[in-house]
Amino acid sequence: MRRRHFFLSCAPLALTAPDDAGEALWRDYVAWYRTRPDTDFNPRLSYLAELRRRGLSPGEVERRGRILESLAAQRRAELEPYFFDRTYRSSEPRFNAQPNSFLAQAVRGRKPGAALDIHMGQGRNAIFLAQQGWQVSGFDFSAEGVARAEAAARTAGVRIQATVCRHQEFGFAPSQWDLIVMTYAWIPLREPILQRIIRSLRPGGILLFEQMLETSGGEHAAPWLPRRQEVLKLFAALKTLQHEELTARPDWSWRPEPLVRYLGEMPAG
Ligand SMILES: C[S@@+](CC[C@H](N)C(=O)[O-])C[C@H]1O[C@@H](n2cnc3c(N)ncnc32)[C@H](O)[C@@H]1O
Repeated sequence: MRRRHFFLSCAPLALTAPDDAGEALWRDYVAWYRTRPDTDFNPRLSYLAELRRRGLSPGEVERRGRILESLAAQRRAELEPYFFDRTYRSSEPRFNAQPNSFLAQAVRGRKPGAALDIHMGQGRNAIFLAQQGWQVSGFDFSAEGVARAEAAARTAGVRIQATVCRHQEFGFAPSQWDLIVMTYAWIPLREPILQRIIRSLRPGGILLFEQMLETSGGEHAAPWLPRRQEVLKLFAALKTLQHEELTARPDWSWRPEPLVRYLGEMPAG
């Protein structure tokens, strides 16, 4: 498989910010955040403790804490890739690092082709698919995840094309993929990007989706979580091959929760 495909395009991550008084503080905090282990559940608090250690007065620490609180609310998205970097760097991953079982079952006996693993993480599914003969591409905004996927591919003696990229910048061209994998991906399901992803399937291609269900009904629910029975509407352009809503332990949780598994096929013509 070639290392680079012409249809994979991704603009560099743009993390620049307006030049304001809090910029230096924010940058210092981000640098601190990136070094923290994933067992630091409140990096902001530990950063303020670090400022005290650096000799800042209690009043100054409090002032910076307030600025940081408001910056963190506005600029949380900038930290997200680093949050997952910390997760993938952990020596005790808090997710199932083995290939997704629904995926393993769905591709059994299926002729391999071009597969795209959206939000591939550390590559658990990409490596598995490559071992089954699929030509696998994948992307994720976690540089650590992608680096680990590439290293795992080398160890396994398979090739994958892994890119550090936000989905907002990924080029989903029509009719490219025989298989699209979305396990626990953070794609906002009710935005046009989902339909672009679906259209990037070739006729006869399949899309596999597994995710926890949104059951709180809250208005601040994560946009990547579908509500009960909603996947049938979201993936209405596809022919449903499998759809199951059950309570089981999701790959990204340590306790049983409502989750959905969906497999759909792009109709021919
Ligand atoms: C819950 S993990 C799932 C990872 C993988 N699909 C799996 O099943 O193990 C969500 C992944 O989405 C990635 N991600 C979240 N938002 C993203 C974005 N806007 N662009 C690219 N990757 C993103 C994270 O880095 C993380 O690896």
